[in-house]
Amino acid sequence: MSLTSLLQSRLVLVTGKGGTGKSTLSAALARVSAERGRRTIVAEVDVLRPALTAMLGVAPTYAPARVAPQLDVCNLTWREALVEWLEGAVPAPRMVKKIIDNKLVQTFLDATPGVRETVILSRVVTLAERYDQVIVDMPASGHAISLLGVPNVALGLMRGGPIRERAQQVLAQLSRPDTALSIVALPEEMVVNETIELWERLRKEVPTLRMPVVALNRAAVPSLSEGERTLLDRLAADAGALPPEAAELLLAGRWEASLEAGTTDALRRLEAALPAEVVRFARLGALGGGPGGPQRVVQQMVAALQRHALKEAGR
Ligand SMILES: Nc1ncnc2c1ncn2[C@@H]1O[C@H](COP(=O)(O)OP(=O)(O)OP(=O)(O)O)[C@@H](O)[C@H]1O
Ligand SMILES: [Mg+2]
Repeated sequence: MSLTSLLQSRLVLVTGKGGTGKSTLSAALARVSAERGRRTIVAEVDVLRPALTAMLGVAPTYAPARVAPQLDVCNLTWREALVEWLEGAVPAPRMVKKIIDNKLVQTFLDATPGVRETVILSRVVTLAERYDQVIVDMPASGHAISLLGVPNVALGLMRGGPIRERAQQVLAQLSRPDTALSIVALPEEMVVNETIELWERLRKEVPTLRMPVVALNRAAVPSLSEGERTLLDRLAADAGALPPEAAELLLAGRWEASLEAGTTDALRRLEAALPAEVVRFARLGALGGGPGGPQRVVQQMVAALQRHALKEAGR
């Protein structure tokens, strides 16, 4: 799938290895969608400390919170999703909270596999009916696979009933051509391996999912010329002879060269293993670490997304 069709999709799922930049990309995609005038919501999946707070400046709650005129944010906490679901399904909605707070019921819920996942995904489907674009900042690799795999398991286990019905609705939404997936990767060997493996496993769980857009985050911006790289190699061959300041410079140059080589290598491996669109996002030093940093990283990603979409439009 191209970035352009991802940006036009109704549902965008963002996953990848832990710490790769899933929340940052989700926030940036949400900004782009809202700037294009679409009613947009970006959701984190049942997290205790939402990362989107620092990235968008608003703390996500279960109920959608307003970030900007066309942009909402929320946290898909499963208990609240369950309450909402039951309120719509049982004849005495006022009893629902009492039932759920009951100890026995809680034990039952905790022991029943798939309940959490089903109500969370079910809420995603509801949001997709209410917004032009829903971006889900999914859990990292393994957890994303089990989350998305639950509807198929539910279908296999149940012959009828409300859970089966909801699971069918979720699978229908996941199979639609306007559902997109993005996997965030880093230019590191292990992360590239995990990215390739993640896609292999995801498509086994949900065979109807469309090819992802891979976001290669923290990529090195090519800056060294061929001549400079050769010079660095030549100097390194006789580094002992260099004065200390020059040796420092050489170290910095070689570090830069290795980052660039890492990015080139990651791109090559990703492109060979999966015929997916790869969008690069620059490594921004320690920008994400300081106060206001996460929002600035999001802004940089917004700019990169727009540049890439323009490039696609020109192709
Ligand atoms: N390209 C970048 N350059 C510099 N900093 C970045 C970049 N991308 C993300 N960051 C920073 O890296 C940190 C981790 O990013 P983020 O929280 O988006 O990752 P994540 O994949 O959602 O992590 P988790 O698996 O914990 O949910 C944040 O502080 C973010 O601001
Ligand atoms: Mg995150």
